[in-house]
Amino acid sequence: PRKIIIDTDPGQDDAVAILLALASPEDLEVLGITAVAGNVPLALTQKNARIVCELAGRPDIRVFAGCDRPLAGALVTAEHVHGKTGLDGPALPDPTMPLQDAHAVAFLIETLRAAPEGEVTLCPLGPLTNIATALREAREIAPKIREIVLMGGAYFEVGNITPTAEFNIFVDPEAASIVFASGVPLTVMPLDVTHKALVTKPRNDAFRALGTAAGDAVAAMTDFFERFDRKKYGSDGAPLHDPCVTAYLIRPDLFRGRHVNVEIETEGRFTRGMTVADWWGVSGRAPNATFMGDIDAAGFFALLTDRLGRL
Ligand code: BDR
Ligand code: CA
Repeated sequence: PRKIIIDTDPGQDDAVAILLALASPEDLEVLGITAVAGNVPLALTQKNARIVCELAGRPDIRVFAGCDRPLAGALVTAEHVHGKTGLDGPALPDPTMPLQDAHAVAFLIETLRAAPEGEVTLCPLGPLTNIATALREAREIAPKIREIVLMGGAYFEVGNITPTAEFNIFVDPEAASIVFASGVPLTVMPLDVTHKALVTKPRNDAFRALGTAAGDAVAAMTDFFERFDRKKYGSDGAPLHDPCVTAYLIRPDLFRGRHVNVEIETEGRFTRGMTVADWWGVSGRAPNATFMGDIDAAGFFALLTDRLGRL
């Protein structure tokens, strides 16, 4: 199995991404989960990460709390999408498993320092603050990272928090800029992909039909989460943004993209946080990321439902 660290701000879709990873031990070994401030403040994201581990029957997973605010400026949250707790929808018990004492950034640095080159894959599902801080504090960890597979950005689908920016990148553009300039191989799941991974009514029914606590919780989460997208975009169900990352690590053949140059706009008056993807190769700048554009949604939901059924 591929060794991964999930960096996350749960978030209903983060929760589903974590459940998919924990349900797939033959493909993925989760070395730890690092929480970051994003959808809701850090005190809630680290708690939600532990709630999700317990839902998966994995209280042994180590969860670390990381950065509570972006590198520059104030934290922007998304309660309007995810609800007050960040995990609104299902009624899940408070976690009893402990939060680790170490800071998430220390855990990232120590784990990568100790690992052989190219062994550990990072999976950021929220703002890139923890990852950028680790790269900034310990530059030598960059070659240790096999790949960073992240959810963030948009190209043809433009933005969801401003007209041009996707939430995860917008919350901490300075951090994103460090990550995109790091030289680490990057695979990006932008809105262009995730807005095609929609939990339609039959897909939601399939989660519920699993007849398990995890299936019920995922159905209740996506029921809640879809209210925002249906109202805002008229989309047919909630987009499962973050699970695209863990699904890609299990079934890369479900995704299509291009290896292109992606720069992060940190200054634009109207475009701060935009992922400027050179889709047509007109800039002459060197490619630094595989920017995905398409997903086999039927295959993705078949995989997800099947794996969730194991929990
Ligand atoms: C991203 O922002 C968050 O609200 C979601 O969890 C996802 O990571 C989508 O723009
Ligand atoms: Ca997220």
